[in-house]
Amino acid sequence: MSYFKDKVAIVTGSGMGIGKATALELCSHGAKVVLNGRNPERLQKTLEEFKGKGYDVTAISCDITSSTDCEKLINQTIETYGRLDILITNASVSMREKFEKLQPEVFAQIIHSNVNGSAFPAWYALPHLKKTKGSITFISSAAGMIGMPTGSAYSAGKMALTALAQSMKIELDGSGVHVGIVHVGFTQNEDEKRVLNAKGELVPVASRPAYLQQTREQVAKAILRSIKGRQFKTVLTVIGKMNAFMVRFFPGLVIRIITYSQKRMKDMYE
Ligand SMILES: NC(=O)c1ccc[n+]([C@@H]2O[C@H](COP(=O)([O-])OP(=O)(O)OC[C@H]3O[C@@H](n4cnc5c(N)ncnc54)[C@H](OP(=O)(O)O)[C@@H]3O)[C@@H](O)[C@H]2O)c1
Repeated sequence: MSYFKDKVAIVTGSGMGIGKATALELCSHGAKVVLNGRNPERLQKTLEEFKGKGYDVTAISCDITSSTDCEKLINQTIETYGRLDILITNASVSMREKFEKLQPEVFAQIIHSNVNGSAFPAWYALPHLKKTKGSITFISSAAGMIGMPTGSAYSAGKMALTALAQSMKIELDGSGVHVGIVHVGFTQNEDEKRVLNAKGELVPVASRPAYLQQTREQVAKAILRSIKGRQFKTVLTVIGKMNAFMVRFFPGLVIRIITYSQKRMKDMYE
């Protein structure tokens, strides 16, 4: 029997992208999944797609940057399923602009989305996860290991998630709750994926070489392995693992390599 059978999971930002793929993977292993996103039409479409496959899912449309919305997300989950075993904080917004051009309010919005957007659902979920000795997984990025050009606020937010996960892991020692962080690498994006520009407008993501990208399904499977293995830190892709090693032992060299590649691969950064 699957480890995930009949477990109740919330995946924030699961109307599309990696969150949707992760929710699908959980459902295919027998979990009951709460889908989430802000766009009700997209969420409804995803919900119907999942129900069409016979999965036990529900959808709660709310904004994870609002503390009251997160309280609603957790309370409605408990009302529907009576328990919570897994929280995956996946929803966030990214960016593509140099720090000096980014409006301060946009900087704050990205930090808010990446940090509070994970901390708020985790805070409301924690009492329920203690009862089930469940699991919280924060979705981070390779950009959460080293500050990336045109990604200052995003990198800062993802690095803050590492500190949050570390603090929680220490504080929750002995409680039975698993805390994990998954550093996702370049992943094939949905065509509709948008990120913020300097003025806070939604724009398409920068192009990336296909050979550097994992599929969303590969990422989803890795997230489930990380939860099942109750791992603290998981780094995806060969480049991500090399990056983690290099950042730890040769951070100055990594910064020089990224500075060089930024000049050679302008499309990826602008
Ligand atoms: N794609 C990559 O290459 C990559 C690489 C490294 C890390 N990651 C990380 O992986 C995670 C998912 O990325 P993705 O590429 O799948 O993103 P995506 O395609 O843009 O999907 C993001 C999802 O989050 C939802 N969302 C965004 N803000 C929200 C909010 N405030 N409240 C509720 N839902 C919200 C969006 O739906 P609504 O718009 O309807 O709210 C959407 O369903 C993110 O944490 C990202 O940083 C991605």
